[in-house]
Amino acid sequence: MSKKTLVLTGANGQLGKTIQKLWDAAPIHDCFHLLAFDKQQLDITDPQSIQRALNGLKVDVIINAAAYTAVDAAEESEVNAGLAFAVNERGPKNLARWAQAADARLIHISTDFVFDGTAASPYPTDARPNPRGVYATSKLAGEQAVLEALPNNTIILRASWLYSQYNGNFVKTMLRLLATRDSIAVVDDQIGAPTSTRPLSELLFNIAASENGNGIYHWSDDGSISWYDFAVAIQEEGIAAGLLAHSIPIEPITTAEYSTLAARPAFSVLDRSRTEADFACTAMPWREQLKLVIQDLADREQTH
Ligand SMILES: NC(=O)c1ccc[n+]([C@@H]2O[C@H](COP(=O)([O-])OP(=O)(O)OC[C@H]3O[C@@H](n4cnc5c(N)ncnc54)[C@H](OP(=O)(O)O)[C@@H]3O)[C@@H](O)[C@H]2O)c1
Repeated sequence: MSKKTLVLTGANGQLGKTIQKLWDAAPIHDCFHLLAFDKQQLDITDPQSIQRALNGLKVDVIINAAAYTAVDAAEESEVNAGLAFAVNERGPKNLARWAQAADARLIHISTDFVFDGTAASPYPTDARPNPRGVYATSKLAGEQAVLEALPNNTIILRASWLYSQYNGNFVKTMLRLLATRDSIAVVDDQIGAPTSTRPLSELLFNIAASENGNGIYHWSDDGSISWYDFAVAIQEEGIAAGLLAHSIPIEPITTAEYSTLAARPAFSVLDRSRTEADFACTAMPWREQLKLVIQDLADREQTH
């Protein structure tokens, strides 16, 4: 049987790198080829770039892991805001149009930031979005553009608090600060759920290989914590894995005490029940996933 083709955009992002790293050992490898494109090879903001990269190929599924993710920088200037909308709204729209013409399925990654954070229980997929800030608004616009251009062949997978071994993210920033500072202060009144890119990638493989599902889905690792709780756990796991020599004081602070250009949702836990039902999957506890990522970072440090 000939293999199907899965196209990955944004291959150099943290999710893109994780997908490529896991690919060869994943069951999907038996029935799909992976064609991974970074921004230079396929710029999603440019329809001609998409055509140059993909025309002539029989593409079955596209995973769009490309995004403008500089949440605070997006607030800094009109130029940056324009870039956020180009990448997060027009980019997915361009991909959806290409997918529509090619009869391909599009799996597009979105974010908990589409919600305003005023809820007190996990957001179901049909909760009313109310994005605050440029990045959040551009991501919601991207969801809407994709659903409009490709209504019957789209999965939008919203995830929260992404991290991995790769590139920059909260876990790696905390490990650096915990290793170099005498104390740190971390926000304790924003509640969410971390998402390790490894189980997220495995879910994406599952979705790509399945014919099931359409529309909006939610994903994160299991549990709900504050950024302060996350930092404390990162320190404990960092010490256990030998990445950190000793503990330093971590002070819980409020959002009001830590100003950022872009507002963050105070509560952004996502209800995964539709995803777990349609794709027969179960999220693992966030702490187990954190331990795996920190152990991998420690193993890599030892080999350098
Ligand atoms: N990070 C989080 O905490 C978080 C939370 C929830 C949801 N998400 C969503 O999860 C997805 C993956 O995020 P991530 O953390 O893996 O992002 P990331 O590490 O910032 O990666 C995004 C990638 O997209 C590339 N890119 C930017 N503009 C592009 C363009 N015009 N064409 C093609 N590629 C382009 C970037 O390249 P350059 O770096 O060269 O610009 C980068 O390699 C995104 O949709 C994001 O919105 C992220």
